[in-house]
Amino acid sequence: MKHIALIPAAGSGSRMASATPKQYLDLAGKPLIWHTLSALAKVAELDRIVVVISREDEWWDSFDWREFKYLEVLRCGGASRAESVLNGLQALQAAVDDWVLVHDAARPCLDPALVSQMIVVLADHPVGGILAVPVADTLKLAQLGQQIVHTHPRDGLWQAQTPQMFRVAQLAQALATGMGPDITDEASALEKLGLQPKLVMGSPWNLKVTYPQDLRLAELILAAREV
Ligand code: C5P
Repeated sequence: MKHIALIPAAGSGSRMASATPKQYLDLAGKPLIWHTLSALAKVAELDRIVVVISREDEWWDSFDWREFKYLEVLRCGGASRAESVLNGLQALQAAVDDWVLVHDAARPCLDPALVSQMIVVLADHPVGGILAVPVADTLKLAQLGQQIVHTHPRDGLWQAQTPQMFRVAQLAQALATGMGPDITDEASALEKLGLQPKLVMGSPWNLKVTYPQDLRLAELILAAREV
């Protein structure tokens, strides 16, 4: 049974206010996704690393990826993250019970040790699970005009991160049957089938680069790790 990292990288990054998709923006002298791949390449338990890019991607081929020996690239991105992941799963040619670890290209500060840990913790789990962190802030529900309607109790609330680790066939089936705007991560597709993925403690440093200021933060995190 193999462990396969699948990296959806077919987004346009519309919230970054940049013509270049965020996975290719410069982060400490390299394209952002280079750091993501570099972290995954350090995980000894991974057998394959597969990136899903858009069919129209004009950036990928302008970089040199040869240092990542096991890297595979699939040009089968879809209109949403979930579609990109499903297309990738269908193109993977993996065994039904292989584990797939879906990881956002836009999370370049992933700690390889956390991935190894989650593989150990979830090895015998019937469904799989995700990295996540407990919610630290007080949560407000707002209506129009940013008026607070009420305070939502944060007990038991976690912020989902990636990797999200599931069996290849089960995840493909969950995404194929559950596809819709409510499926914003892999776990939500499994939950829709009535299954209960496990939460594995992640790290606040595993941030998703979404807005322009996140790039600077990611750079600081990477630099702090090097010291
Ligand atoms: O836009 P967001 O930050 O939620 O995207 C999360 C990840 O999903 C990114 O790595 C992005 O490239 C990927 N994605 C994708 N296909 C899409 C939209 C997003 O692979 N159609």
